[in-house]
Amino acid sequence: MEPVKVGLLGLGTVGGGTANVLARNAAEIARRAGRGIVITHAAAHSYDTDAIMGLDQMKITQDAYEVVNDPEVSIVIELIGGYSPAKELVLQAIENGKHVVTANKALIAMHGNEIFAAAQEKGVTVAFEAGVAGGIPIIKAMREGLSANRIEWVAGIINGTGNFILTEMRDKGRDFDDVLAEAQALGYAEADPTFDVEGIDAAHKLCILSSLAFGIPLQFDAVYTEGIGNVSSEDVVYANQLGYRIKHLGVARRTEQGIEMRVHPTLIPEKCLIANVDGVMNAVLVQADKLGPSLYYGAGAGADPTASAVIADIIDVARTITTDVQNRVPHLAFQPDQIVDIPILPITEVTTAYYLRMQADDRPGVLAEITRIMGDNDISIEAVLQKEPESGVTRATIIMLTQKIRERQIIAAIDAITQLDVIHGDVHRIRVETLDAD
Ligand code: HSE
Repeated sequence: MEPVKVGLLGLGTVGGGTANVLARNAAEIARRAGRGIVITHAAAHSYDTDAIMGLDQMKITQDAYEVVNDPEVSIVIELIGGYSPAKELVLQAIENGKHVVTANKALIAMHGNEIFAAAQEKGVTVAFEAGVAGGIPIIKAMREGLSANRIEWVAGIINGTGNFILTEMRDKGRDFDDVLAEAQALGYAEADPTFDVEGIDAAHKLCILSSLAFGIPLQFDAVYTEGIGNVSSEDVVYANQLGYRIKHLGVARRTEQGIEMRVHPTLIPEKCLIANVDGVMNAVLVQADKLGPSLYYGAGAGADPTASAVIADIIDVARTITTDVQNRVPHLAFQPDQIVDIPILPITEVTTAYYLRMQADDRPGVLAEITRIMGDNDISIEAVLQKEPESGVTRATIIMLTQKIRERQIIAAIDAITQLDVIHGDVHRIRVETLDAD
């Protein structure tokens, strides 16, 4: 059979990695796909001629539309990232009847509904495995492996850069900016690394996982998003003393009132497997009604792991190129006419436990004032830790863990506690998840 001709947009970290893995594993890939896969046309403004294999077999242009409009190309691989011109290029490829493989989670989270509708209309596939959790085949697992289940919730460490930064800060006491620079040099970080640090990249990925889990439209703007910028080394130390690790977690949960979609720093009990996922590694824990919990772990970023997911998608598309459109796996796991709008809960209605840290005068009655406010707001306290002040210092650090409550209750309590004369500075809070089955 004729090899499948592929057009590649972008020859950066992931594009270069994809070309190299396709070249190195060509024979094995052909055995799996049933035919060869060759990149015949690529678009890039700059690339490393010494580091990328197979360049001599590609026509290379600076104009990505030349690739998208090339009649020889059957599959377009979009690896330039960002919203635009990626969206226009992908829509043009679809219009031209080409299948698309992308690692672009921002594009799918923001414009996926429109892109999948266009693909459905044209009878082509848009595959995006590399968009979530790097090389881990989590989309395949959720869309196909778990398709007998009702998924209850998904919780994941889904940004490799953020996890790398938190791990290096905790284990080696390294400086935030220094670790971020290393993550950039290693090709983990987004072109704009604030996407990693501020949780936006994780929110893109969580938005996609939520749609796959619950059969809801992609709605990135409804994801509550907090980054890792406010995690202090003090909190990391106190969390450890209480038997927890701080991780940047994405959580999507089905509740009777609606769907929770949120990414934020989270205390997780250190005995949980996912609390021990360190460095650039990602992990996604899925609670499904029949299977129960299942955990997917692997490299969340980097050239070869991401290329692994991109090429798995290319092979899938190559295998199904002649399949009837109706018999292909639906883009968002559920048949397009079965995607339903379930309400998304505002963060104030979300239920979690909390870790609080505050500075208070070290004198009798202070704790009583704080616990009275907690009681007034119907908040039950799970644990209290008071760090003795050093000699000569009259303020103590108080750490509290609450039981599960609604976010609006803790907001009201923190407002009242902050106004006490005996409290100094902000009351810091981090959500706590035990990741139990319910
Ligand atoms: N910047 C992303 C991360 C790359 O660090 O996880 C993989 O999506």
